[in-house]
Amino acid sequence: MKLNKIKLEIDILDFCNLNCPLCVRGIPLQKNKKFTSLDELERISKFIKPFEFHTIKIGGGEPTLHPQFAEICDNLKRLFPAQRYYLATNGFQLEKFKDHLQVFDIIELTEYRGRNEGVFDLAVKLNLPNLVPIRKQDYKELEDIYQESNSLKKVNVYNRCIYRKITIIIQDRIYPCCNIFGQALRQNIDPDMISVPVDENWRENLAKISIESYCRRCFVDVPSPAKAMLNETISSTGRWLRDKIKPLDKYILQKQIQRQKNK
Ligand SMILES: C[S@@+](CC[C@H](N)C(=O)[O-])C[C@H]1O[C@@H](n2cnc3c(N)ncnc32)[C@H](O)[C@@H]1O
Ligand code: SF4
Ligand code: SF4
Repeated sequence: MKLNKIKLEIDILDFCNLNCPLCVRGIPLQKNKKFTSLDELERISKFIKPFEFHTIKIGGGEPTLHPQFAEICDNLKRLFPAQRYYLATNGFQLEKFKDHLQVFDIIELTEYRGRNEGVFDLAVKLNLPNLVPIRKQDYKELEDIYQESNSLKKVNVYNRCIYRKITIIIQDRIYPCCNIFGQALRQNIDPDMISVPVDENWRENLAKISIESYCRRCFVDVPSPAKAMLNETISSTGRWLRDKIKPLDKYILQKQIQRQKNK
């Protein structure tokens, strides 16, 4: 497997205040309830080269529940030098941390209908310049992870799956794509089979994992090569525009891109 990653997601904890049944990380199935301490992040950072990844994304679970969340924000650029920083959050406690959130270029704030509308609306009102609100409509977009129907046709999908560009660290291990951990939990696959420890050999060890057999079982929809190319074009145009427009326009643009993708 050739490593060609652009984004590193670091899930700093595996618990949450919401427990959405369709959570892509399988949080309701997660038994550990652990967080990764700042000391452990310091250790991990020694094995990631500066600017090895274009983007660093902090996720979870709900990252704002981490007992050292403010310190992690304040040390993020030092620990993991990169071009861009993202945070994924359901909006919980954003006000409490607003003086630490400037480190993020984009805060992806997701609304889960029936679970966090109140918190979502309050977070939007904070008017943080880097906030990008994403409203999930009746969980429709979230159901993709359960679409098993096309899995039998999934041959050689790894090289065209957009998620191969995103690697993820959960606790002290690194995974070949950002979705495989949640898929493993749902399918009773031992996560250690599809991940390697974060140490000086992680690149060679990750490249040795044969992911194709897991991709065939993965419920995430992987588009045809033509649609994948279209998505790639739309997302690079989206990226270019995003740098030039204000947050509210970003939300509208994001919906337009989503509609294009769904056509
Ligand atoms: C797992 S959440 C973790 C961070 C935070 N708790 C949140 O919900 O935003 C990270 C991202 O996964 C996305 N997500 C969660 N469940 C999903 C699903 N079933 N399908 C697609 N995306 C999903 C969310 O929209 C969010 O941007
Ligand atoms: S808020 Fe995010 S991490 Fe928490 S259960 Fe829902 S999707 Fe998963
Ligand atoms: S098909 Fe699934 S397991 Fe394979 S790279 Fe894509 S998201 Fe990951």
